[in-house]
Order: sequence, then C-alpha cells, then structure tokens
Amino acid sequence: MTPETMSESSIPEENRTPRNNSPEPAPKTQASGSSGGSPEQQPRFATTGGVTPSKPGQKADDPSTESESGVLYLGIDLGTSRTAIAGSNGGRSSVPSVVGYPKDVVAKKLLGRDILFGDDAFKKRLSLDFYRPLEHGVIKYSDGDDKASEKAENNRRAAADLVQEAIRMANPRSDELIYAVIGCPAQASLTNQKALIDAAKAVVDSVMICSEPFAVAYGLNRLDDVLVIDIGAGTTDLCRMKGTLPDAEDQLTLNLGGDSIDNLLTELIKKKCPGSQFTINMVKEIKERHSFVNQSQDPIKVELPVEGKPTLFEITDEVREACRSIIPPIVDAIRKLISTFDPEFQTVLKNNVLLGGGGSQIKGLATALQNEMIEKLGEGTVVAVEEPVYAGANGALQVAHDMPPSYWEKMK
Ligand SMILES: Nc1ncnc2c1ncn2[C@@H]1O[C@H](COP(=O)(O)OP(=O)(O)OP(=O)(O)O)[C@@H](O)[C@H]1O
Ligand SMILES: [Mg+2]
Repeated sequence: MTPETMSESSIPEENRTPRNNSPEPAPKTQASGSSGGSPEQQPRFATTGGVTPSKPGQKADDPSTESESGVLYLGIDLGTSRTAIAGSNGGRSSVPSVVGYPKDVVAKKLLGRDILFGDDAFKKRLSLDFYRPLEHGVIKYSDGDDKASEKAENNRRAAADLVQEAIRMANPRSDELIYAVIGCPAQASLTNQKALIDAAKAVVDSVMICSEPFAVAYGLNRLDDVLVIDIGAGTTDLCRMKGTLPDAEDQLTLNLGGDSIDNLLTELIKKKCPGSQFTINMVKEIKERHSFVNQSQDPIKVELPVEGKPTLFEITDEVREACRSIIPPIVDAIRKLISTFDPEFQTVLKNNVLLGGGGSQIKGLATALQNEMIEKLGEGTVVAVEEPVYAGANGALQVAHDMPPSYWEKMK
C-alpha cells in the first residue's frame, strides 16, 4: 500500500487508509503448515518484541504437515474501552469492555442472567457488581502489590468472561479448535501479558500476545518505514516498523488516550458549568459526539442538569482543549522514536505516520499532529486508518493466520 492510496480520504481533513483486510476469511493457505507456513517466517515470530507466545521461551518449529481444518483463528483487540474480535470465519464484532454480575437474588430474578456484557451491563449497572477489567490496556491489578487480592481475582474473572463473550460472538463451531492472538500495549510487562494469556486460556485452545500497534501495521501490510500510533482509551502505543519484528526500543507506551481526555474534560466542564451534574460516561459520550482539535468549529452546546433542571452550556473551548491535550506528548514520543532511528531513514518514517485506535476519530487530529510535527520536527505526514475499531483485531487475525500450525500446537 502506498501513501498515495492512503490519501484517498472519505473523511474531511484527514486521510484514511483503505481497509486491507476483507471481511472474507483470509486464505487458509497462509497459515497452513504444509502449504503456506514458510520456514523463513518462523524466526520472525519465535522471539519477540512484537509477539509473545503463551509459553515464553518456546521457539517455532518447522512447519508441520498437519491440516488446519477445524481451526478457528481469532484476532482479539482486548481494549480498555472496547473489545473487538475478527475471525477466520469472516465474523467481526465488538463489545464495550465491561462486565456485570447480579448483586443479589432480586437482581438475578430481574435480569434472568448470571452475567451481562457491554451495553446491557451499562444499562443495568445499578443492579450489578460492575467491572471494567482493563486499565491502561492490561488487566487491573495484574501486576504489583495487589495482584493476589480479591479485587485482582474479580477483575481477572471479569476479563476471562469478557474474552469468552468475545469468542462466543465469533460463532465458533463446537468441534473447532480456537487459536487466538490478543493485542496488548506495546510495553505491557511480562506479568501483565501472562495475566491476559491466563484469562484467555480458560476459553481458547492456544493463545499468543502481540503488541497492538504492531498488529495494526501487520494487518495493513505495512511492515517497514511506518510509525504506527494506536490511540486507545487507556494508552497510546507507538511502534516503528523496520521490516522485522519490533524490538523494545522501537515501541513506546504513553499512559494517555481517551480516558485522560475524559478526565480533563470533566475538570474543565466542572469549572465552566458550576452546579451541573454529570458522570464520566456522559463526558465520554459528549467527547465522542463532538471531539475536534482545530480552530473553527460551530459552538458545542450540551444540556446538563442543575438541581434537577436541564440547563444549556456551551463547552466548545473545553472540548478542544481536552482533545488537544494529547498532541504535545504524542509528538514528543514521535520525536523519541525518530531521533533514535537510523538518520538515513528518519525522513521516510516522519512522512509515514499511521494513526489507529478509537482516539484517531477525533476530528482534525491527523492534521493537527502533522502540523505539530512540521513545527517541532521540520516535517511530517500523518494519516488515519480507515477502520479504527477493527484495525487491531484484523491485524492480530493476520498474525494468527501467518503462524505455522506447529507453533500453535506448541503453545497449547
Ligand atoms: N469519535 C470519537 N472521538 C473521540 N474519541 C473517540 C471517538 N470514538 C471513540 N473514541 C474514544 O476512543 C477510545 C477507545 O478507543 P479504542 O477502542 O481503540 O480503545 P481500547 O482499545 O479499548 O483501549 P486501549 O487500547 O487503551 O486498551 C475511548 O476513549 C473512546 O471514547
Ligand atoms: Mg486498543
């Protein structure tokens, strides 16, 4: 794919890349040990910067001659805010990453279920023990002092249930093996990665972890000369692609993204709209409806209750300021990855910046990042992927396809 094709934009102000993955299943031969899994491919996946096997330290073997029929490959983007899944059967779905369990027998009688997900869980959350099991792209409390606590266990269970729900949405046949690749932040710790693997292992036959921005690049077949930025809810992940698996120094994770914008917007609205009542979910909805970063904009007016009475407030500058807050740190991170790269390739990297993740839908963001790059780094070309919700899952599915079957066998 060339930058020219990426500039065919259907979205004002920003170029969006055409989707590389068709909704059709990718050709099975790509992952077939006997016909498609080339020996040269294996070392690229065997030791990781981008891909972590479920049994660390194991290496890919020669491609087996085993048939892969009866295997459903899945790419899962287990996000802080939304979980997206793409399957080799052509299925694609997504669900907000929230899980709820009825609080008591009355709640259970009312809801008629033991567990609710996504929008259903949001709607009924007053009757539920409610979990958003991921934070900064990894399972909450999976690393650090609290990892043996009850709250850590509860979040692990919620994450495992979420993975199970995502897999159910992919419609696997009961006789199929399920091999899944899960995207996670570029710099997630090994303990965090292991927690994700454990959550998934309860429901899949074999699982691997791969870095989110790497998955986005891989799915778009952009394996070199591109700098991918995945703007999620909990983290923004950057990865420079250089034609091999990325190393640790090719990747950066920033603890900012949609959530940090929501938090800042909350503070700004509190100041601008004294006495108004609102929740962080309402702020997120306002942001998703009105997000923008450029100068000219029709006034943004929202109704918020003040002492029970809906009251109109104008929050144009607040939305702009909150959305713009991620621009300087992202350009700083771009600078770090550019300035430590081979000087002969710095220009080409600067002019091939690819934006993915839900945050890439902020109106005008690609152009604003590009302008900031031109000011701070002398040049820059930024385009946004066409399918921000599925780019990670599509890429993870492509990685899953390209792994030799023998490798999956070993990861069981
Ligand atoms: N139109 C929009 N404008 C601005 N932000 C948006 C828009 N649509 C979605 N978002 C934000 O994108 C974020 C979700 O993006 P994404 O689904 O890529 O995150 P995630 O994968 O769940 O998170 P992470 O990668 O951090 O684990 C949320 O903060 C959401 O509010
Ligand atoms: Mg994500």
